[in-house]
Order: sequence, then structure tokens, then C-alpha cells
Amino acid sequence: MEVKAPGVLKLLGEHASVYGRLAIAIAADRYARVDARKTGVSPFRLILKDFNGLEVELDKRKLGELYDSYKNKKDIAGYADGPHGISAPMLPYATIAARLAIEQGVSLEGMSATVTSDIPMQSGMASSGACCVAFTVALLRAGKKRLPDVLTVDIARDGDRVVHRNLNAGTIDVNTSYYGGYVSYSAASGAKREDAAARLDLLVVDTGPKKSTAETVGHVAELREQNKERIETVLDKIHECSMKGLDCLKGNDIPTLGACMYMDHELLRELEVSSKGLDNAVSIAREYGAYGAKLSGGGGGGIAIVLNSDGVKRARLIDRYQHSGFKVYTVNTALEGAYNYFPR
Ligand code: MEV
Repeated sequence: MEVKAPGVLKLLGEHASVYGRLAIAIAADRYARVDARKTGVSPFRLILKDFNGLEVELDKRKLGELYDSYKNKKDIAGYADGPHGISAPMLPYATIAARLAIEQGVSLEGMSATVTSDIPMQSGMASSGACCVAFTVALLRAGKKRLPDVLTVDIARDGDRVVHRNLNAGTIDVNTSYYGGYVSYSAASGAKREDAAARLDLLVVDTGPKKSTAETVGHVAELREQNKERIETVLDKIHECSMKGLDCLKGNDIPTLGACMYMDHELLRELEVSSKGLDNAVSIAREYGAYGAKLSGGGGGGIAIVLNSDGVKRARLIDRYQHSGFKVYTVNTALEGAYNYFPR
């Protein structure tokens, strides 16, 4: 059976979340899909359709070896680099499969799992997080096993930890893809599902190459070192945008949510994490009467998100972005995440 898990966009609160403030993420209706089924052919077979059908077979011994070398995962980069004989695109999935089989006793013998995704890669839409969520849930479903949500998310995050070589990876992305809808995050309360049913009509505007998130996060840290008071004030204002934006989502007040996005973008500019292309994308959105727009994610290039107003302006706006050489994706909120595959 096939399990799909949505992509994820950062809606509000980037960078401020690094300093304890609130951030909001949204599940977007582009999907990673995993078809897992018992075929009677053992051992466990893993197929990556988007990598020319790359295929590997993992028997119980191999899964045991992987699990043993991953479980003391203090040195995540050391683990990712091997020696394990598994290719880089396969390793996140093999790591998840090993934990499910060895630690959780999920029966993978005779199972094959095929991974594919409609989420553009490296686009700021959390394609790796969504693939890891779809994979974890698909293996649990096919293995007829259910685990607590928090544990399921943690196992899916193992895949994202391997992809990003970072033990803290995946908190927002994996939780949001798993639960769907809207997820808030702060250091104090962790990731939390938010009960909001607003469906947002968004454009994702890809303005081209971006700086690494480590670089833009580092830049904000430097600015804060130089002028703590000023930067703390900006971070507080971003937090207010996130709080107000969350109220708007719950109350379905889309125009005010858009105003929070424009405001947030200006604050991110003060943190010097925007770029010419991102500012241009946001100006065009204003010019065409979109409700809101802002950079999304780490910034320094990459994607802006635009909250559309009505249908006519929307088509013209898409045209305009394409004429400016930007790639544009239309997305809506995915209110259901992979979580919904388990009966509630
Ligand atoms: C990047 O997608 C979001 C940042 O806030 C970094 C983070 O929260 O880890 C810039």
C-alpha cells in the first residue's frame, strides 16, 4: 500500500526560533510517496525510483550491523561516511529500516519499499523529511505495527539526521510532514500541532541559489554579538508576527496573516538574511496585490512564499514571476499528514 507525506514550508519565525522565539511551519500539498508491500521475496528490498531505480537488498544481518553502528550515534558524520557499503541516497532509509526491524521488531522480511517524490529537491520544501516520514509510516503499515507518535517521528528523524549529518535535524520538518496542517515550534515547548483548518493558497517562488543555513544563522549570531539590544528587539517583533499569524490561522483571517508575512520579511531584512532576488519577489507580490509574501527558510537566496489574494491577479502574478526568470510552484495547505494513516 502507498503512504504519502506532504512537503513542508516555513511560514513565520525563521531565525528568531534559533533564539527561543516561536516559529510556524505548514504542510504543503506536494508529496513523498512510499509503496511498501510484502512480496514474498526476502530479504527487505529498497528501491529509489528518483535515483534511476537504485536498488539494495538488506538482510537481517546487515540491518543489525547498521543498527549497532547507528545506535551510539554521537558521531553522525562518522556514521554517514561509513564503512557500511550503503550508497548515500540509500543510507537514510536503511538507517530507519534497521531501527524498525532491530529495535522495534517490525518484520521486514519479504517486504519491498519503493520511494518516490513530487517535492522538488533542495527547494526549501523539506523533500528529505517528507520521504523519511512516508518511508517510516509505510513500513509500519506494511509490517502491521503501530508505535506512539513521538517515537514514530523520532525514527523518521533518524533519516533526516543522516541526510543533514546533524542530530538536531528534522524537528520542524518531520513533525509537520507527519502531522500535516500547521505545527508551531519553540525551544521551550518543542514541536506542537496547531488546531487550524485554514487552507492557504500559496506560491513558492524559487529565486535561485542560496547561502547555506549555517552561514545565514552565523551571520545573525554575529549581528547579535555586535548589537544585542537592537537584534533582540527585532527577534521579539518576529515572535509577535508568529503569535499574531497563529491567531489569524486559527481565526481564518487570511489578509491579516498576509500582513504579518510582509512585516516578518522586513524584520528578516534587518537581520540581513534576505537577498536582492528575495526582495524583488516580495516587491512583485505587493505590486500585484498579494496578501503577503516573505522569504522562507534560511534565506540568503532560495525561496520566497506568497499568499495569494484572488484568482485573476494570481495568474498574472505567476506570469510575472516566470518572466523574471523565477521558478514558481503553486501549493495549498495539506491538512492531513502521514499521521492520518493510523486510525484515530
Ligand atoms: C531554516 O529553515 C530555519 C532557521 O530558523 C534555522 C532553524 O530554525 O534551525 C533559519
